Amino acid sequence: MANMRKIGVLTSGGDAPGMNAAIRAVVRAGLSKGMEVMGIVRGYNGLIHGDMIKMDESSVTGILQKGGTVLGTARCLEFKEDAGIERAKDMCLKTGLDGIVVIGGDGSYRGARDLSLKGIPCVGLPGTIDNDISSTEYTIGYDTAMNTVVQMVDRLRDTSTSHDRCAVVEVMGRGAGWIALNAGIATGAIAILVPEVAVDVDRDIVAPIKASLAKGKNTFVVMVAEGIGHTAELAKEIEAKTGVESRATILGHVQRGGSPTLRDRVVATQMGYYAVELLEKGIGNRVVGLKGEKVVDYDILEGLNMKKPIDAEMLEIAKAVAL
Ligand code: ADP
Ligand code: F6P
Repeated sequence: MANMRKIGVLTSGGDAPGMNAAIRAVVRAGLSKGMEVMGIVRGYNGLIHGDMIKMDESSVTGILQKGGTVLGTARCLEFKEDAGIERAKDMCLKTGLDGIVVIGGDGSYRGARDLSLKGIPCVGLPGTIDNDISSTEYTIGYDTAMNTVVQMVDRLRDTSTSHDRCAVVEVMGRGAGWIALNAGIATGAIAILVPEVAVDVDRDIVAPIKASLAKGKNTFVVMVAEGIGHTAELAKEIEAKTGVESRATILGHVQRGGSPTLRDRVVATQMGYYAVELLEKGIGNRVVGLKGEKVVDYDILEGLNMKKPIDAEMLEIAKAVAL
């Protein structure tokens, strides 16, 4: 669309490695298409208050490999109310913003939809380490976070092996078990606990550890998604029931930082470019996702209503090969 002259880009919700790669792609793609590009600071807050920076090619030089988000991010409560969305719309009209790329999770998508319905075309890109966005098979930041978990658990494995201990590791993911599932497989966890599947401590953790002890193994990793909770208590219960000294480790926000992996950089670049192409055509109220390694887009509401069940077969494979 010829009149998409000025676009904005913002990051919203929790940060994720690869957000900078997405910002870079949006800025460079927009500029190459002759658009003016504004970097909106601290998510929807910056939009409401007109806190934005005019970007040029060099504003995004050197950020591809950086974790976090150079634009800053925030959770903006005001934007959840109609008055806040009206203020953001007025700011878009005042500053001449014709469209916005929103990089964030489901909450950010809801905001993008609200603003699109008020006449400002918005396109959502999936940015979260949790991989919990149903409209995409993959979210920007997920691969980096999982690789961080693997590095950390490898370290825990060293000390657990020295002490004949069980490392009970809690990883992020909010209500989803994607990080736990894959990082659990990659670290040879004896048990992987995800909130999507009911857990029986005796059946799913104690029995496999005892069977493994009987085969002569004496060091273990139990991978727990944060949606399960009670990780410290769980470690005590495992120790009491198996006799294996156990230590709980909550990995926490280290999982959100660090230089993005190749996969996160590439997917963020593909998606950022795609989002600008949509806006260029005047298309808003869309979310971008990955389906079978291809970049696709959906209506935001349709995307929010999609389902992405966890891969239960992977859990079975993990159990089958763990000792
Ligand atoms: P994420 O985008 O990672 O899911 P949040 O749920 O915290 O993170 O949402 C990020 C921001 O998106 C919120 O702080 C708010 O500004 C906006 N947002 C969230 N939910 C809504 C909603 N229902 N309507 C409008 N805006 C919303
Ligand atoms: O959504 C990303 C995430 O890191 C979740 O895994 C976690 O539950 C949450 O954000 C933590 O949020 P905060 O940074 O506000 O503590």
